[in-house]
Amino acid sequence: MKKIVFATNNKHKLEEIRRIADNQLQILSLSDINCNGEIDETGATLEENALVKARYVKERFGYDCFADDTGLEVEALEGGPGVYSARYAGESCHPEDNMQKLLSVLQGARNRNARFRTVIALLINSEEHLFEGIVRGRITEERRGGSGFGYDPIFIPEGHDLTFAELGNDIKNRISHRALATVKLMEFLMKK
Ligand code: IMP
Repeated sequence: MKKIVFATNNKHKLEEIRRIADNQLQILSLSDINCNGEIDETGATLEENALVKARYVKERFGYDCFADDTGLEVEALEGGPGVYSARYAGESCHPEDNMQKLLSVLQGARNRNARFRTVIALLINSEEHLFEGIVRGRITEERRGGSGFGYDPIFIPEGHDLTFAELGNDIKNRISHRALATVKLMEFLMKK
């Protein structure tokens, strides 16, 4: 079976992608290949960050590899926090602080449109490919719901009245930005 590395150690992401791959590919994590160093995410865009991570693995370990990066892009903030979503309220801050900061920055704002965007960079046979998944929606005025992670309690996807955190992981994982990008990646890989 063809082996490919997913440049992550996030168990949730690995589970999700292995389920979509349905045993047609062997997906290895960073710890599976003994890649234990921190990979810097210093890019100015999601695309750059995803490519940096995938190239790091390909150059040092020789495996075909893919890596993802996600950001919450808020219209009233001209696409911010975007690539800085994980550290919006400061380096190594808690996700709760990020949400609180966004809610206070948007206090009273009428335009609450936002989107989650995931970019997956794939390095395979010396080729580079990018896959994108987008979910449009809006930011609530207060946090709602207990499941998920990150900004889930304050994001309502288009076509729904509940936040990602209220919809629960089963529904979210079917419609999410990451799922959309992952399905595109898998369709591409299955054809290879
Ligand atoms: P990463 O690139 O997947 O690590 O995502 C970067 C940051 O975006 C995370 O730390 C979260 O703050 C946010 N984020 C990414 N995906 C989601 C999601 O599905 N729900 C809520 N927040 C997310």
